[in-house]
Amino acid sequence: VSADAYFLALSDALHAAEIYSPRLVIDLDRLKGNIAAIKARLGAGLRLRIADKSLPCLPLMALVREAFAADLFMTFHPPVSVAVATEFPSANLLFGKPMPAAGARQALAKGLFAGPDSPAARIIWLIDSDERLKAYAALAEQLGIDLRICFEVDVGLHRGGYRDANALAHALTALRDIPRLRCEGIMAYEAHIGKIPGLFGGPPKALAKTASLFRRFAACLGPDQRTILNIGGSSTALLYDSGVGANEVTIGSAFVLPSDFDVASLSALKPAAFIATPILKALDARMPGFDERSWILQRLGLFPRRACFIYGGKWMADAVHPPGMRPNKLFGYSTNQQFMALPDDADVKADDFAFLRPTQSEFVLQQFGPIVVYSGGAIVANWPVLPAG
Ligand SMILES: Cc1ncc(COP(=O)(O)O)c(C=O)c1O
Repeated sequence: VSADAYFLALSDALHAAEIYSPRLVIDLDRLKGNIAAIKARLGAGLRLRIADKSLPCLPLMALVREAFAADLFMTFHPPVSVAVATEFPSANLLFGKPMPAAGARQALAKGLFAGPDSPAARIIWLIDSDERLKAYAALAEQLGIDLRICFEVDVGLHRGGYRDANALAHALTALRDIPRLRCEGIMAYEAHIGKIPGLFGGPPKALAKTASLFRRFAACLGPDQRTILNIGGSSTALLYDSGVGANEVTIGSAFVLPSDFDVASLSALKPAAFIATPILKALDARMPGFDERSWILQRLGLFPRRACFIYGGKWMADAVHPPGMRPNKLFGYSTNQQFMALPDDADVKADDFAFLRPTQSEFVLQQFGPIVVYSGGAIVANWPVLPAG
């Protein structure tokens, strides 16, 4: 089907479901296609760890988890972590960013991650520095419990973490005197790879460098410290095979393919998440202040002749339907009624639907209340989302 036919069919389904306000739609058939495509392309020997922040909706995560028989989650924000831990009692949760030790203390004191055998067993804390290692050592001692930890290592993104193998080896030596902390492995992230300019060797060179750094970090670990050898994110995960020395990759966003993830390694996937919002008004555009003289701006190509106002706006998203619809810098942006320029010949009227494709799934999926699930030409379900705050 053409993009036009796709969105017209989706519009019909939304009208039939009596939806009259901005909603986040997930195309279940496309999502299932993406799951199958990722499954088929995941490197041998690499397990999937689900990035919960990028799929912040339990039924959505459940679908991915079942398809991959994956019980590994990367988590980023305690309220979401707790929801995931509660929904999936056997899940293994690794923090994807370091938590302040005082925050960890609070969560543990409340029993938020309590497992069947131990209050701390459900969660693996991320350690990015010697200072944090000391803070978590003190915390474990103070609470009288063992904690599982993973070291964040820097493989080129330079977002913190252990800078080189020597620094990690040093921390691992210090760890020998901290029996309450158990090292489960290392976590590396490298979202920069696709953005490295050709002048510096481009993505292939960055990928090779990252893999080599990762192997050097991994070589520091003892045989009982290698449960988690984690690398990747959506834009890179499918570039690896077991040669990188990892045993798991993290993927979240790719399953719904927001536009930031239009990269070659994900070219078999299809966008599966859209913002659908009613067009409230379609009209001849006039620029405030210029009024009858708006033609001047139009002649200069700065302002459209036709425009519409959509319900809501200013989202992290790109307009995809009606064809040619786009925001206009001069008129500006609004979260209430966004002005959108239209081509002169646009066949658009009030009460039609406009569609935008999120640039990222994190946060955007949580802005519209329950997600509207589209399958087989109809709206088939509503999926509650996890709270953003
Ligand atoms: C540490 C880490 N790993 C992996 C990811 C990948 O998430 P996604 O697959 O949604 O890009 C992220 C996202 O920010 C991250 O911070």
